[in-house]
Amino acid sequence: MNNNEERTLSIIKPDAVERNLENNIKNFFSNNSLRIVDSKKIQITKEEAEEFYKVHQSKPFYNDLCSYLSSGPIVVIILEGQNAISENRRLMGATDPKKAEKGTLRFLYGISIDKNSVHGSDSLDNAKKEIDFFFKN
Ligand code: CMP
Repeated sequence: MNNNEERTLSIIKPDAVERNLENNIKNFFSNNSLRIVDSKKIQITKEEAEEFYKVHQSKPFYNDLCSYLSSGPIVVIILEGQNAISENRRLMGATDPKKAEKGTLRFLYGISIDKNSVHGSDSLDNAKKEIDFFFKN
């Protein structure tokens, strides 16, 4: 990997998996220069969701967020590419689909701030932790 090559974690959330958007979202990444290094469809427990989202544990939406992420199958993906972390965040758009820029994943597919279709790591440090969380043996 050269200097700006990074890896980041993407999650296709239950609302998008349920609507069979896995391939559309994967193609969107591939068509925008983010390579899929690995991916798997899984369902996590509420306890695992609490661990994954523990940076948000003081937030009022924490409990609902963890219930939601564990409510159905998700697809976890390792993405790789130039500036993959910021690039993935740009492609996702704003957290709230109502505020997401036209053409972004959350603009196209998001239903609400909770059911916003995708998650992406927000920093290099969190990308490493989040990839390890789902892909370390
Ligand atoms: P995500 O990028 O997965 O990170 C945390 C999630 O919390 C976020 O997407 C939203 O789906 C969810 N969430 C629910 N309510 C809020 C809120 N008020 N502000 C930010 N995130 C929220």
